[in-house]
Amino acid sequence: MSLKKLYFGADYYPEHWKEENWEKHADLMRGANINVVRLAEFAWSKIESQEGKFDFSWLDEAIDILIRKGIKVVLGTPTAAPPKWMMDKHPDIYNVDEYGNIRGFGSRRHYCYNSEIFQQFTRKIVIEIAEHYKNNPNIVAWQIDNEFGGLCYCDNCLKAFKRWLKKRYGTVKRMNEEWGTVFWSQTYNNWDEAILPGYTVCDSGTPYAHNPGLLLDYRRFNSDSCIAYQKLQVDIIRKIAPAQPVTHNMMGMFNEIDYYKLGEDLDFVSLDNYPNNQWGKAHYDSPGLSADVMRGIKKQNFWVMEQQSGPCGWNFFGDTPKPGQLRLWTYQQIAHGADAIVYFRWRACLFGIEQYWYGILDHDGIPRRRYLEIQQTGQELQRLSECLVGLKVFSQVAIVRSYDCEWSNIIQSHNKNFQYDKIIGQYHRALTENHISTDIVNSLDDLSSYKFVILPAHILMTEEIKKHLMDYVTAGGNLLITYRSGAREWNNQMTTKVLPGLLKELAGVEVEEFDSLNHGRTVKVMMKNELIEGYASVWCDILKTDGAEILATYAQDYFSGMPAITVNNLGNGKVYYVGSDLDQKFITHMVGNFTREGGVNPLLPEPVSNVEVMKRIMGGKEYLFILNHGEEEVSIPIDGFELISNTQLKGMLILKPYDVAIVK
Ligand code: GAL
Repeated sequence: MSLKKLYFGADYYPEHWKEENWEKHADLMRGANINVVRLAEFAWSKIESQEGKFDFSWLDEAIDILIRKGIKVVLGTPTAAPPKWMMDKHPDIYNVDEYGNIRGFGSRRHYCYNSEIFQQFTRKIVIEIAEHYKNNPNIVAWQIDNEFGGLCYCDNCLKAFKRWLKKRYGTVKRMNEEWGTVFWSQTYNNWDEAILPGYTVCDSGTPYAHNPGLLLDYRRFNSDSCIAYQKLQVDIIRKIAPAQPVTHNMMGMFNEIDYYKLGEDLDFVSLDNYPNNQWGKAHYDSPGLSADVMRGIKKQNFWVMEQQSGPCGWNFFGDTPKPGQLRLWTYQQIAHGADAIVYFRWRACLFGIEQYWYGILDHDGIPRRRYLEIQQTGQELQRLSECLVGLKVFSQVAIVRSYDCEWSNIIQSHNKNFQYDKIIGQYHRALTENHISTDIVNSLDDLSSYKFVILPAHILMTEEIKKHLMDYVTAGGNLLITYRSGAREWNNQMTTKVLPGLLKELAGVEVEEFDSLNHGRTVKVMMKNELIEGYASVWCDILKTDGAEILATYAQDYFSGMPAITVNNLGNGKVYYVGSDLDQKFITHMVGNFTREGGVNPLLPEPVSNVEVMKRIMGGKEYLFILNHGEEEVSIPIDGFELISNTQLKGMLILKPYDVAIVK
């Protein structure tokens, strides 16, 4: 979907407020430069209070008021919260945990994607809503459901899993071979015997100690189930309201669903972005990484459908965003490719578990600092809209993130402190700290435009991926492979090849031994030819070179002096192998050096701490987004025209704490 203007809005729940507030809300929204709202994604019981009794009158009225004020609408399908009457009548819809316990009524997402009854109810409500609003030109998009996720172990899933396995493997014999069910006498004689990997005897942490092939397939199946459920809804909307685009609000680094596949059925992808809430405070780079994940799904710009607008939590609060941060976080998303920003939520709710999730307005509805900051941001963005919307992010570096590898790495995570997402985050942050922007791509995505590609812990490997990487490198690409890449086949079995398995030829090294670091152990790593040292605290691959040059060695333990980091010249390109996790400082330094050698141009000549820079381009014009995430003022030597303040820079840009500049 290509937009002409930037949508700037709020997630609004008119059903939480007496009608007499609606007009005033809409006026205040206009006052804050809001031109779009998302509505109704949890309003099922209000739309269909009893089976088959649909009432849109309240929603029509709310939408009319908004439209009269010039505010457009994104409509949610309300399927994330099936009503009580439905659940009482059809308990079969409930989501079930690995112990067989029903995840009962009282919150949301309590349904199973594979319940046929639920699919029927879904069809009915989506048809009703789509028919009712199909001719309304003010509906600018549909959001399907809300934040898909969750695993289920119910009987409907079991039946569907058996069908899924049959389709995947054709014969039970093959499934047995792929999983290696001869281990512990787990051989299946027919499809009917297949199981879901729920509660069993041995527990190796989470999940229960099932066959890793089964566990990986279950993850794939669960993701596919969600994708099929989404498609059911998308197909209905496309048929009834073909002119209206369809999206879903995803969660950045969330890893239960293969977002590449989920995105295939959507017109555009949306992100929910909460940098600082009850569950944690993100490093400033993390929302940028989430945005890059979103942009990578369809290789196109995205919307932020929920953007933090206040202090928030369910039982307790995260920090209150400091003056300037709401604006900064907004520009950060735009810098990373957002074409629309919708804040969650319009006004803090008086009831329900999200009473503490503050919005643009507090409970009392009085516009205060946050409202004014968003108003100012909206004003700036409307003024700059034409040169912001549709800008393409320009990256010379990509990080490969694969959901299959993610799941394999979760199922058996190598070391207690190993986290696939954490490694991706560390390399992303290293690039950001070097002022290099990053695309996040899938294993077989086209790499030809990148000067440098990072392949962290790509545990599962195939001949096809190997060839893909080989083609990239021989044509002149630079590839960095980390430890735990290539150790397994696609079915999650260990490879019989010398590690890094199929990647050995590329890397020009052999993993002779490894050491998983436990009980707080660390191992020093020294860069050769430089006085730089770092520490591994998770993993050390002890390498033997086979053509590669040694760049760093271990400086401790029985493998002191053995290679830790190497580089191999191959065709016109280079392959770096990093055999261990390392601290952030070391990774940032190393990535800076390697990318520089690979011809990557940082967006600022010298790193400035806490400053993030992104480049977006359109029609031959380049825009540098410069964001100061720090609490100190910074000076950045740069020339150009600064768009927000409308000023010509004279060799220097001064950015106050949390301030932003767009330099053309
Ligand atoms: C999001 C969700 C919203 C709201 C918000 C605050 O994850 O999509 O509906 O619940 O969190 O908790």
